[in-house]
This record gives sequence, C-alpha cells and structure tokens, in this order.
Amino acid sequence: MKISIFGLGYVGCVTAACLAHDGHTVLGVDVNPLKVDLVGSGRSPLVEPGLEDMMKASVASGNLKATLDSHAAIQESDVSLICVGTPSHENGNLELSYVKNVCSEIGKALTEKEDYHVVVIRSTVLPGTVEECLIPILEQESGLKAGVDFGVCMNPEFLRESTAIADYFNPSFIVIGQIDERSGAMVHELYKTLEAPSFRTPIRTAEMIKYSCNAFHALKITFANEIGNLCKAHGIDGQDVMHIFGHDQQLNISTTYLKPGYAFGGSCLPKDVRALVYRAKERDVESSLLRSILSSNQNQIDLGIKMVERTKRKKVGILGLSFKPSTDDLRESPAIELVETLVGKGYQVQIFDENVQLSRLIGANKSFIEKELPHIASLMSDSLEELVAEAEVVVITHGSKTFKEVPNMMTAGQTLIDLVGIAKNKKDMQGQYEGICW
Ligand SMILES: NC(=O)c1ccc[n+]([C@@H]2O[C@H](COP(=O)([O-])OP(=O)(O)OC[C@H]3O[C@@H](n4cnc5c(N)ncnc54)[C@H](O)[C@@H]3O)[C@@H](O)[C@H]2O)c1
Repeated sequence: MKISIFGLGYVGCVTAACLAHDGHTVLGVDVNPLKVDLVGSGRSPLVEPGLEDMMKASVASGNLKATLDSHAAIQESDVSLICVGTPSHENGNLELSYVKNVCSEIGKALTEKEDYHVVVIRSTVLPGTVEECLIPILEQESGLKAGVDFGVCMNPEFLRESTAIADYFNPSFIVIGQIDERSGAMVHELYKTLEAPSFRTPIRTAEMIKYSCNAFHALKITFANEIGNLCKAHGIDGQDVMHIFGHDQQLNISTTYLKPGYAFGGSCLPKDVRALVYRAKERDVESSLLRSILSSNQNQIDLGIKMVERTKRKKVGILGLSFKPSTDDLRESPAIELVETLVGKGYQVQIFDENVQLSRLIGANKSFIEKELPHIASLMSDSLEELVAEAEVVVITHGSKTFKEVPNMMTAGQTLIDLVGIAKNKKDMQGQYEGICW
C-alpha cells in the first residue's frame, strides 16, 4: 500500500521504518527540513535501537522516502497516518494545533484527489477529538464528507521508546477506531503481517483505550512505589514483595476486577485498605494513591444514589443486598448504603436478594440482619416478580444470574438502573435503561 506519514518524530519514524520494512511504499512528511533530509538519506533523526539500520535498508530499496510537500504526499498515497505531537498545556489540556494544522493541509489536498483516501490519526488525542474537532476541519477544508468521500480512523500507537521496533512487531493488540467498515479494512490491511488480536471499534472507544492504557501503566508504577515506600518503613524489601505479588496472575496481574460497575465492599477490601492507610499515616509515609481509594469508592456508591434520584420516581426495587452474588455477607455492602440513603430521603424501597433471604430462613445471618439492620429486614421481599412489578425504578446492584431475566419482566414506564452490566444487551426491553459506566 502507498502510505504517507505526517510527523517524523518517535512514532512517525518507527511506524515509517516498520511499514517500509513490511513492503509498503512509505513517504514521510515533516515541517522540519533537517528531519526530512535525515530520513530521506536513510539516517534516523532520533536514538532508537535498530531504527537507523531499518531506515537505511528501506531507503536503499526505495520503500522509504521523505518530503516537506504535504500536498504531493497526499496525491501519492492511499492512506495518511498522522503522527505529530500533542503536548500538554500547563493546565493539562492537549495542544492540538499540530494535529489541526495537518488535518487542514490534508483537507486542502483532498480537494484535488480523485481516489479514495483514508486519514488515520495515530497521535494520542482525548475522546471526542477526532469526531468533534478533526473531522470538521477535514470536511471544511475539502468540501467532502467523511465516511462517504474519504475514510477516517483512529489507530492509537502503543510503542515504548527504546523497545519501539520490537513493540511494533509484537503488539498486544491492534486497535482501529473506524468511521466506517471500508476505512477500518484499509487500516487493518497495513498490519496484516502482525500476529495480534485486532479490535475494530467506534472512533472514541479507540481514543479512550489509549488513555486507559497509559493511565493504568502510571497507576501500576505509582501503586508499586507506594507499597515500596511502606515496605521500607517496615524494614521490608519492596521489590521482593512486588516480585511475589506479580506471581498471582489470577487476581493481581489479570483482568479480574477490571470490569467497570458498582463500588467494592465486603469484609476485607474496605477494612484492609483502611488499615493500610492508617498505618502509612502512623509511619509518616505519604500514600496519596492508597488514600484516594476509599473516597473514590464512596463516589461510586454516591453515583448509584444519584442515578436513582435523577429518575424523580419514589418506588424503588433494589436487586442484590449482599456485596456480591452467591453470598449472604452484608458487611460493608454498597447496596446497604444505597438502601439506607434512599430510605432516609423518603423513597419507598423494597429489596430482593435470594441469598440474604435464605440466610434469614435458615437462621445463618438472621440475628445480624434483624438486630443490626431491622430497618432493612422489614423491606425484604421474597418474590422477585412481585418486587419488579411494583417498582417504578429497579436497581441491579450485583451480578446474580437470577437478575438476567429482569429486563424481560419490565414494562413501559419503568426504569432499570444497571450497576453491573448484566442487562446491557437486552435491546428489546420495555421501559428505560440506564447503565452506570456505559
Ligand atoms: N513517543 C512515544 O513513545 C509515543 C508513544 C505512543 C504514542 N505517542 C503519541 O504520538 C504522537 C507523536 O509523538 P512523538 O513522540 O512521535 O512526537 P515528536 O514530537 O517526536 O514528533 C512530532 C513530529 O511532528 C512534526 N510536525 C509538526 N507539525 C507538523 C506538520 N504540520 N506536518 C508534518 N509534521 C509535523 C514535528 O516536526 C516532529 O518531527 C503524540 O500524540 C504522542 O502522545 C507517543
């Protein structure tokens, strides 16, 4: 394929060299004449192991060239990858002028282009930027319609400097946010030699995946550092602790718990985070990340309450009282706080939880519930069907399989608030549906 790459920095040079190595015809474009000269003569404008050798070979084979002329680059290519910088403003916002300028140049050049062209944003931009800011520029400058006359994709880059070439050829995944199938298929074709799962998504999902990855990487480093600082304060080797920690690939290094939804609760997580934060304070160890966990969790509990309030309806059925399915453990369950707050605000609340119900029947948690939560015990219903039929708003708080059928029980005029994602795909459901993180 014929590819133009705008921006010959870290991302642009690595992408250009790797695509040219894979047999594509690549034309690098930059506003900096020095970089264009260097790339055009097979020399790398930056330090990156293995890059210069690949560039030299691709320039020699004629697969890689460089130019200052963006207009010509568009005419001579089928796909343009935008790899210009998006640095930070002092307030944290992104400087979009480079990426906007490139879109404006590409838009102008598209007016003279007969063949179908796909514009691919590879620079990191915040969700919504491509659709709300860059596509309008491309359309305005070209007088053409995105998704009809030309294609657009968001294809984030995940390389790490210093191992960039290995990262390019061994990616964990390829993410292609596409305006339409045709654009996505062309970008997919660029990477056909790579063995990696490829995800075709809406454009803003692709934008968000990039930020989620980087935020998570930053979170991991900060978490390890805070644990390390606490270790040091106890005479423990923090690197030993995190090394062994990493061997748990079921709960620690895995997708477990990475499912957006309602707050955590139960007898261990809140108690143990609280104790660790207390200990850090006692030992004068700064641990702002660990300290923020419980307040962030509280925000999620409050969000569930706000979602009910926004419905402006008063009869609420809560499905799930324990902190997770298949247990009757009510300790620090976020659903308890949800119920208590709603009752306090004058809502008529009914609750169904088969395990809590059973626990009362067999006496396991009977005295705890009746002594500690008498106000809640009286709200328990033993019929899921009756509770759903009588409620104006139904709230699912945990992922019990019993709740999967709830969307089919709903009627027009009722609202289902799903804090788990269990009812997400019931498109034919009657009534309103509101998910907490989707
Ligand atoms: N560096 C990384 O490791 C990395 C990894 C993944 C994603 N990203 C993202 O990729 C993007 C590029 O990052 P980078 O580190 O390669 O940037 P960079 O600053 O190294 O390079 C940007 C290049 O764009 C050129 N440029 C500016 N305006 C131009 C224009 N109108 N036409 C042509 N070229 C122009 C500049 O001269 C420069 O050479 C950023 O959004 C960044 O967040 C970077």
